[in-house]
This record gives sequence, C-alpha cells and structure tokens, in this order.
Amino acid sequence: MVKTGPRPLVAGNWKMNGTTAMLKEPRLLAGMLRDIKLKCEVLVCPPATLIRRVKSVMKGSRIRVGGQDCHWNASGAHTGDISAEMLKDAGCTSVIVGHSERRANHAETDELVSKKAKAGHGAGLIAIICIGETLEQRKGGKTLQVVSGQLKGSLPEGATAANTIIAYEPVWAIGTGLTPTVAEVAEVHSHIRADLAKLMGDDGGGVRILYGGSVKPSNAAELMGAANVNGALVGGASLKAADFIGIIKAYM
Ligand code: 13P
Repeated sequence: MVKTGPRPLVAGNWKMNGTTAMLKEPRLLAGMLRDIKLKCEVLVCPPATLIRRVKSVMKGSRIRVGGQDCHWNASGAHTGDISAEMLKDAGCTSVIVGHSERRANHAETDELVSKKAKAGHGAGLIAIICIGETLEQRKGGKTLQVVSGQLKGSLPEGATAANTIIAYEPVWAIGTGLTPTVAEVAEVHSHIRADLAKLMGDDGGGVRILYGGSVKPSNAAELMGAANVNGALVGGASLKAADFIGIIKAYM
C-alpha cells in the first residue's frame, strides 16, 4: 500500500510479556525484514528488562526499539520507575505514554501524560501519546469529545510532527478482537487531524496518527487504508514475528 502523508509506523507493544525465551521472535522478525523494501517504519516496544537484548538481536536491521512508559523526572527517588533518559541510554528512539492500561491501572491523568511526553522529548525520544474512548463513552456518543479532551490535555508544549505521534486506541477494542468499522476509524482520525491543526498549526498535518486495538494480519490492510491512519500500534499480534510481519505487509 502506498499512502500519501507522513511515513507510516507499525509499532509493537509487548506490554508485560516476554522473557529471554522470547528473543527468538525479534531475531526472526529482523531476518524476515532484511531484504524487504518497506514503505513504513517498524518499532518494537518490549518490557524494559529486554530493551538492550531485543536491540542486540535485531542489530543491523532498521527496526527501532522503544519503551512502554517513562517517569516525568529525569532521575531521583522514584523506586521502580524508569526515566526517559534511561530509555534513551538503553537505545530507545521512542516511548509510549498514556496507554489506557496505565491510565486505568495507575490513575494517570492527561496532565501526567503530558509531563511524561515532555520528559520523553527532553531526552530526545519520540513520544507516542495514546488516547481513546471506553465503550460506555462510545455508546453515549461522546467519542469525539473524549479524544479531543485527552489530546488537548496530553499534548505538551513543544510537541512537533518530528517528536510526537498520536495513537488512537479505543479502550473497548484493546485485546477484545473487536474493532471499530473503517468508517468509524476514519471519522475519529480525521477529527484528531483537525484538532492537531488547531493545537499545532501547520505541523499538525505531519503528525502520525496510529490506530491500535485488535489489529491483526487479517484486518490490517483495511484499517491502515483508512484516511488519516498513518500506521498501527499492535499488542497481542506483535508478540509473534509471523503475525507482526502479516501486519507490516499492509505497507509492502
Ligand atoms: P491489542 O492489539 O492486543 O488489542 O492491543 C492494542 C494495544 O493496546 C497496543 O498498545
């Protein structure tokens, strides 16, 4: 698929999955992609414990590595947390912030997500800011209002098309096998695009907007074909190289 607009990105979010036994998957993926001419970028976000190892098994490939979260401070007394600087130092190019699982499980607010994105920028990382409505909000006709509010609240000052990516992930589509229709995805993405233009001016047109939520090889081409969809943020189907490449193939 050839699309106009910003260069697409297919990103895999492993979430809290993976020990060293899983390193065979990124190694396989790097091998599969070696001789393929891609029309998208590829990113893998493993758990922090595996970042260096994943990077090492994919050495020589164009696949990038990212973190799944970061603290808003660069260093300090924050037991168990990881800073954007540490991710950068470990070889990451990006960091996911504001994933709905963190918003739900760790009570992360838009304000906090904005601080984390800013910390990512400060460390030289691309911040992948996640937004998306719950099923209740969709049923209540509040989807566009919710994503607008999250976007405005989570986008930090200094965000540009080069340092920021938005991931639209409807909460009800994550890990459920359910997806919005292509028309519904296009509606939300074009709404986000218009909001980005309001918030960032001309640069808003260059920001990549990923779709996430039950993307798999069988639905990737259709979802990626929707207007203003500039790639995917993939959970479950990114854990196996054979599945993940089936999604990347939407851009071959
Ligand atoms: P699934 O692809 O497993 O639905 O997860 C999507 C997601 O949350 C990616 O961040």
